Amino acid sequence: MTENRVKRIGILTSGGDAPGMNAAVRAVVRTAIGQGIECIGIRRGWHGMINNDFVPLDASSVSHIINKGGTMLYTARSEDFRAEAGRAKALTCCKLLGLDAIVAIGGDGTFRGAQALSKQAQEAGMPLQVVGIPATIDNDIGCSQYTIGFDTACNTAIECIDKLRDTMQSHERCSLVEVMGRHAGFLALSVGIAVGATAVLIPERDVDFQRDVAEKIRQARLAGTTHYMIVVAEGAGSAMDFAAQIREQVGIDPRVTVLGHIQRGGTPTVRDRETASRMGYEAVQALLNNKGNCVIAYQNGRIVDIDMETAFRMTKGLDQERCEVLEAMTNRRANGF
Ligand code: F6P
Repeated sequence: MTENRVKRIGILTSGGDAPGMNAAVRAVVRTAIGQGIECIGIRRGWHGMINNDFVPLDASSVSHIINKGGTMLYTARSEDFRAEAGRAKALTCCKLLGLDAIVAIGGDGTFRGAQALSKQAQEAGMPLQVVGIPATIDNDIGCSQYTIGFDTACNTAIECIDKLRDTMQSHERCSLVEVMGRHAGFLALSVGIAVGATAVLIPERDVDFQRDVAEKIRQARLAGTTHYMIVVAEGAGSAMDFAAQIREQVGIDPRVTVLGHIQRGGTPTVRDRETASRMGYEAVQALLNNKGNCVIAYQNGRIVDIDMETAFRMTKGLDQERCEVLEAMTNRRANGF
């Protein structure tokens, strides 16, 4: 191992919050302190770094947060940080605090901000390592098969949809439920499989209303079902618009529920607490090993670090096997049930 230069880490959470972010903060702090590294929490993400909004973190300041949703460090989306002038202010804050590394917990935008800051720091002759930990309920980070918060968000969504199903069943209605996921369908796909949806609409597949909605409802009706649950990824279109089409073209009067930000809250599941703890630990190991700029990722059950440039080039699509399972469960005519 080369000599460890890291003495003080800044930790922040940025972008949309995700259940398990707190567990990641805790793991970074506890691992770092165990190695004699000081930790400073930057509040409100990159916005806080521009505005010198920080709090020193010791081992006890991260007690009793592993079970909490949200983020104790607060989060924000910062427009100012996108500009060089904003990042220059952030670098002044890094200098003031004597930070030689930053652990940024969030999504793609958070990591790109981290990389831009590090580049600007190097140009100013100020070495700054940055490590990204993927945390977003969207699960849309190309280099990591899993992102912190996804499992909890899926569980929150299925709990709500199970409740909806009770009333939809009683009234023999059609329900459209819009789930989050930004431009990706990971959340909708997993949730759709888990609730036994009649149809699932995802942005990765062009929606053909007749094939993907009307026909699935007809098949279900012919099979004797009198209520229908349609899961819509927000990136696939508006559940309201699909409801209007159902009303006009299928002749039934559906109800729409947009789950919205409720999916971002709640007690993190074991998967999210454990993954966050493992990733937080690994982030500090990467710094101890002078890995430079990297993203911590989940790959085939293991937690690894991937160089940031390489990580940005990596993409991931929806899992083919899950798509096949969904098709087998929703295409009644083709599958004879
Ligand atoms: O990225 C997480 C996410 O919850 C997306 O699923 C959603 O599209 C977006 O954030 C909502 O952003 P905001 O909280 O800024 O409304």
